[in-house]
Amino acid sequence: MSANYELRGSVAVITLNNPPVNGLGHETRKGIVEGLEKAQADAAVKAIVITGAGKAFSGGADIREFGSPMATSEPNLLTVIRACELSTKPIVAAVHTVCMGGGLELALGCHYRVASAGALVALPEVKIGLIPGAGGTQRLPRVLGIENALNMIVSGAPVKSELLAMAPGQKLFQKIVEGDLLAGALAYAAEIADVRPLPLVRDLKVTHANPDAFMQFARNMVGGMAKNFPAPLKCVEAVAASLKMKFDDAMKVERELFTALMFTPECKALRHAFMAERATTKIPDVPADTPVRDIRRVAVIGAGTMGGGIAMNFLNADMPVVMLEMKQEALDKGVAIIRKNYEAQVKKGKLKQDKLDARMAMLTTTLNYADLKDADVVIEAVFEDMGVKETVFKTLDEVMKPGAILASNTSTLDVDRIAAFTKRPQDVIGTHFFSPANVMKLLEVVRGAKTAKDVLATVMALGKKIKKTCVVSGVCDGFIGNRMIEQYSRQAGFLLEEGCTPAQVDKAMEKFGMAMGPFRMGDLAGNDVGWYIRKRRYLEKPNLRYSKTADLLCELGRFGQKTSAGWYDYLPGKRDAIPSKIVTDMIDKHRADLGITARKITDEEILHRLVFSLVNEGAKIVEEGIALRASDIDMVYLTGYGFPLHRGGPMCYADTVGLFNVVAMMKRFATNPLDDGAFWQPAPLLARLAAEGRSFS
Ligand code: NAI
Repeated sequence: MSANYELRGSVAVITLNNPPVNGLGHETRKGIVEGLEKAQADAAVKAIVITGAGKAFSGGADIREFGSPMATSEPNLLTVIRACELSTKPIVAAVHTVCMGGGLELALGCHYRVASAGALVALPEVKIGLIPGAGGTQRLPRVLGIENALNMIVSGAPVKSELLAMAPGQKLFQKIVEGDLLAGALAYAAEIADVRPLPLVRDLKVTHANPDAFMQFARNMVGGMAKNFPAPLKCVEAVAASLKMKFDDAMKVERELFTALMFTPECKALRHAFMAERATTKIPDVPADTPVRDIRRVAVIGAGTMGGGIAMNFLNADMPVVMLEMKQEALDKGVAIIRKNYEAQVKKGKLKQDKLDARMAMLTTTLNYADLKDADVVIEAVFEDMGVKETVFKTLDEVMKPGAILASNTSTLDVDRIAAFTKRPQDVIGTHFFSPANVMKLLEVVRGAKTAKDVLATVMALGKKIKKTCVVSGVCDGFIGNRMIEQYSRQAGFLLEEGCTPAQVDKAMEKFGMAMGPFRMGDLAGNDVGWYIRKRRYLEKPNLRYSKTADLLCELGRFGQKTSAGWYDYLPGKRDAIPSKIVTDMIDKHRADLGITARKITDEEILHRLVFSLVNEGAKIVEEGIALRASDIDMVYLTGYGFPLHRGGPMCYADTVGLFNVVAMMKRFATNPLDDGAFWQPAPLLARLAAEGRSFS
């Protein structure tokens, strides 16, 4: 049973006990109801306290039950809350640490609530595309007032218990307990044991001085912010019902809205992303209890674009960093950029000056490898050139202490070859950060053939410490993200040859929700980067057809924003992409040289060719074991490539479209003589799943 029952004098204490956060799974719900029945039947019991064991009152629904019939099997949460309300003896919820979602809804079903200070209170359902579904939208406005409640429900953000207890007129917490919460709750229970009638939140009135105007204001505000997500506006509708309807009728509205949202693609996408994020940490042959190495000091080689950003991650986590370069000027430049980034944060009020000083004090620089010998991990971010990497890793092998982790930030090179430059390949791993490295959430952790399990576990833990979403990738050209983006870029190039303009392609993708279309992205990242990679890549794969348009662009010196000219024109110092006549002429000429007559291409074709190129390559990546699971690919694209969250990632989007349909479209693309027919042969995994009517998830 995941809820304990004990008698403390004349008070029955029901303690939720379902680690880690007392999720309200079926066993826990059953435990609460049975505890309540026991307490009703026992004449010696005068009052009941419900609390949570360990590190939470309750984190809400048990995510392990998501999507299973157990989630709603009786007693479901509504039944449990009803049982609380029907109790003939007063119930006090003793709230601490975490009280979220269903946990808060349960507390609101109790007659009284006391809390310890610092408890995080929230209704976070909106974050997974839902509204609270067990009365949260009806009871929270009754205890906090419509405005405070709506803020919490629409944002899903946690608020500290003591702050809520200070809200004027609030009825959420009757008491903030100092010291021992259970002792305080028992004392409070004794105080109110004989008070009748028992107060119920449902009986309170929801009022507002100007309800219609306020709700209209809320609709406008939330509608403007919610963009691609339906749930926030439904939160507003549910809360509006609390103003206009009787409690039980409004509960029906909440239920209907909740159920309708459950089946929206946006909700599925958000729940998928929520679960996918958790799944990334699970590595089948590296169990959670794998011992990790102690990492206190970090070294970074190279103070360029990536080295500086990488260093900031560790400084932000209060870890000392030593940065090495070839020349003092490069170090000075790198350090100045780091300082400038922190100063910008201070200016915006996001960082205190003393924090800036403390962080800069933890950063040291050197030109001498001997100064790295104490580092527990070294991350190399020098030029993307195997010869340079070879020199660096051979030197690191000589100077680093035994057991130090040697990591490379290479974006395309073979980590196994890099490991082979050392006599300790077990200690070598790839840590592929994304630019800007101090901002982007994604960290691809590249597991070499010989990488030791504890090294992998250590780097995953380190990534978590610096607040990255870590996704494990095997070794291949481009790893997960960039290997897929190559196909995406190839398709984008073919689309230009066949008749699109860069702006048309970008617009279609941005309408779908991508943060940026492929050409604006190229201009931001620097078209020269891809040019450099293509020169190597297509030398290795001479038969692979690709559009030369991007090379022609680079031959014109149009590297993107940094040269104020790329696929678009840019005014000096500005980032607005202005369609370029030079580029259109260049594409037209190239098309004419190839003897291609431009045709009109629909946004739908653009979207499907680009996204399904990711999907087909993604399927190969899963099949080859480069990615551990399809959902890891989605996390890579959601956190590193600006893929829209409401689509759940490319693989999730393919599931939404239906793999059968995806394969059918690929077969059609394969017949286009100007495209790469061979590429569009569905990956075996994709073909199999489609034939069996299954999905990636
Ligand atoms: P960068 O050119 O901005 O910086 C490289 C720095 O390394 C330069 O300051 C250079 O002086 C220094 N350096 C070169 N050889 C060195 C050596 N032997 N010893 C010490 N320092 C040396 O390059 P960036 O963009 O920072 O790239 C670094 C690495 O990160 C490359 O492997 C790149 O592929 C990878 N990467 C780059 C991304 C990007 O968006 N720029 C994204 C992800 C990975």
